[in-house]
Amino acid sequence: MLSIGPVTFDQPLLLAPIAGHCDLPFRVLCRELGGVGLASTDLLNCHSILRGSPRAMELAATDPRDEPLCMQLYGNDRDPLPEAARWAVDHGAAVIDINMGCPVDKVAKKNGGSLLLCDTDRTVRLAERIVRAVEPTGVPVTAKVRLGWDRSCIVAPHLARRLESVGIQAVTVHGRTTEQRFRGTVDLDGIGEVVAAVDAIPVIGNGDITEPHHATDMMRYTGCRGVMIGRGAMRTPWIFHRTDRLLRTGDPGPEPTFADKLQVIRRHLDLLVELRGEGAAVQCLNKRISWYGKTMGHIKPLKEAIRLATTADAIRDHLLDWMPDHTDCPSDCELWRPSASAASSTVPKSPAANGAAAQAASSRHATRQRRFTGTGQRFHPSSR
Ligand SMILES: Cc1cc2nc3c(=O)[nH]c(=O)nc-3n(C[C@H](O)[C@H](O)[C@H](O)COP(=O)(O)O)c2cc1C
Repeated sequence: MLSIGPVTFDQPLLLAPIAGHCDLPFRVLCRELGGVGLASTDLLNCHSILRGSPRAMELAATDPRDEPLCMQLYGNDRDPLPEAARWAVDHGAAVIDINMGCPVDKVAKKNGGSLLLCDTDRTVRLAERIVRAVEPTGVPVTAKVRLGWDRSCIVAPHLARRLESVGIQAVTVHGRTTEQRFRGTVDLDGIGEVVAAVDAIPVIGNGDITEPHHATDMMRYTGCRGVMIGRGAMRTPWIFHRTDRLLRTGDPGPEPTFADKLQVIRRHLDLLVELRGEGAAVQCLNKRISWYGKTMGHIKPLKEAIRLATTADAIRDHLLDWMPDHTDCPSDCELWRPSASAASSTVPKSPAANGAAAQAASSRHATRQRRFTGTGQRFHPSSR
């Protein structure tokens, strides 16, 4: 269990913001597979959301299956971050996160992201203004940091402590410096120092978790109260389900079967079509198949077929082609039990939440599931 201010989740497992990847369909997919405590939007530009730019609206899109949701904002102390935070609360955020770790020029050159690590006084004042802006709503504000800009300037422990003193309710630490980007390995001692520096707020450890036991190792070694998973989730979105099981029972359970993994890709496609339209869905799967492929053995022909596919039905057919018995859903599909494995949490109701909509979504979902499992054999092994 993990609490961030008044928001409590059963699982101390967070889906990281991964710009360009952690959109609504992917967040819903991970949540359906189970084990996700909190999921985050990709980073949102505060000007763009206040202006209502269509791209920003798409990035901030959520629905009742996507709760509790963290919206991540970036900007600097001259930007309207407090106003953007209020906007995020009004549009469904249960947690507001401030990005203090993004190393990419587009963000850092505007003095946002990781550049906030370089002037801690200004950053703490900015955080305080955001906290005050959303305080009346009760929605907690968190920060996501790296260890520092480079090895000569490790600020995360000191910064985390100061952020806590102005009301930040949790800090996520990616255990690398900005200068490192994604090179090297995550520095667990660095994360441990942040845990030691804060008084009471939870520290969430982040970096290089690709197996369930990496999460438990990180929690044990650093004392962090939760972990955030990014790239590991892109290749194995069931990692939360297995890590949750490991935390609860000491056993992560088996790796999903090949057929289960095909089912997950198929479900991802269906969610993309439903929530973003067929064109975006096909484009997304064209790119994402290589991430899925990393744990699926020799599937080069399938990856190529999906990369070249131009319709959702073509992708569905290719997936079905590779089903071991060529049926839509294997009878022993252990992983694919969305309703049974859904995460639970207690969160003050967000304005976007709507019981009737949730019911409608769940009944639409059940219909899709029935459809998906209802078809029989379509392909013969020799057709591969
Ligand atoms: C392609 C890509 C995009 C990312 N986008 C964001 C982002 O929007 N906001 C953010 O705070 N971190 C972002 N990150 C960093 C991740 O959230 C995470 O901190 C980092 O990948 C380390 O965790 P991992 O090893 O579990 O992936 C991004 C990382 C990658 C690889």
